[in-house]
Amino acid sequence: MSGFEAFVYHNGELFVENVSLKKIAEKFGTPCYIYSQSALTNAYQQFDAAFEDRDHLICYAVKANSNLAILNLLARLGSGFDIVSGGELQRVIRAGGDAQKTIFSGVGKSVNEMRMALNLNILCFNVESEAELITLNHVAQNMNKVAPVSLRVNPDVDAKTHPYISTGLKENKFGIAVDEAMRIYQSAHLYPYVRFTGIDCHIGSQLSFIEPFVEASEKMLQLFDGLKKQKLDIEHIDLGGGLGIRYNNEKPPSIKEYISKLCSITRNIKQRLVIEPGRALVGNSGILLTRIEYLKQTPARNFAIVDAAMNDLIRPSLYDAYHEILPVEKNTIEAKNYEIVGPICETGDFLGHDRKLSIMDGDLLAIMSAGAYGMSMSSNYNTRPRAAEILVVGSQTHVIRQRESIEQIIAGEQIIAY
Ligand code: LLP
Repeated sequence: MSGFEAFVYHNGELFVENVSLKKIAEKFGTPCYIYSQSALTNAYQQFDAAFEDRDHLICYAVKANSNLAILNLLARLGSGFDIVSGGELQRVIRAGGDAQKTIFSGVGKSVNEMRMALNLNILCFNVESEAELITLNHVAQNMNKVAPVSLRVNPDVDAKTHPYISTGLKENKFGIAVDEAMRIYQSAHLYPYVRFTGIDCHIGSQLSFIEPFVEASEKMLQLFDGLKKQKLDIEHIDLGGGLGIRYNNEKPPSIKEYISKLCSITRNIKQRLVIEPGRALVGNSGILLTRIEYLKQTPARNFAIVDAAMNDLIRPSLYDAYHEILPVEKNTIEAKNYEIVGPICETGDFLGHDRKLSIMDGDLLAIMSAGAYGMSMSSNYNTRPRAAEILVVGSQTHVIRQRESIEQIIAGEQIIAY
């Protein structure tokens, strides 16, 4: 794991900060997500410190983990937020986040979402098409407001990541080509209820190399210079999120290296730098704790059937993503290779393949690096209640989301009268 180590073994037993995971499982049950406040705080502070005295705003990408307690912690640390829906905006406000530090990304903002965001006076809309700009101008006009806007540019850069989470190639649905963006900025007079305040890009997620960030930032800088020549002054440059974390043997740039690079590329401009990190803030601050229901041997394989499943953590099934799987208690049983699978009725329901583990029925396993895109992508498939979420602060445990009940799952459903 990179950076701060919140999950460590003491005498063969895995702890989060000062709390034993075994105790958490006994007290709150499994499966559950567990987050370390220190790890999250540490990651935020690493980002913040790396900017040194450069004017900047860190807008945490809420989609990575949108629990109110996580948002509240980040808001207290001074973070802004990057949202992609009206729902996420409501979460930010409920959690005590500042609308004036909130930017709104996404290709399909609805009129209602635009209204909500304009009412709350958010910092900026990252607009992704001319059609969206026309709609936003119209919505703002009806509300007698002026919408602050960055155009999200598609710099046509290969982020060298999984194709599902690569967003900065011209084939992707995201952003506006650089030339096209230039033309739209120049036609500002057509949009009297819009004020262009920034430029924005985001090229993908889980980036393990610095080069694509460099390439995209340089293209943004060229655009910035082009705008300046046209006397189009903007207030900020948003370079998106996307910094990868170590799940297995990736070697992504460190937070410091990444931020220092962005600062150095843009050293000649005084405008504020905005970034939208999600995963690099929360990914390695959280785990998914699960208990082995059964060990099952078939003629071909050994299976460890656990009580967490693809509805709790879909990343392995969806992206073939690797999450390290650790035993909560080390023991001396003979190690075997296991398929770690959930109870869901699909062969695609797995959390890990071919993992060498010394385990027995009833043992606890920690699925590592699950703080980002874990709970926020969970579902009720197979009518499985969503897991509880626990935040650990030193020696204290706080339930930050109760385990869901079956009653809650079916509450909105209705049998029709015949
Ligand atoms: N900004 C925008 C506009 C984004 O679309 C995203 C992520 C981010 C920022 C934050 O990216 P990050 O720093 O977390 O890489 N579900 C996938 C990841 C999807 C990312 C979508 N956009 C996964 O589990 O790997």
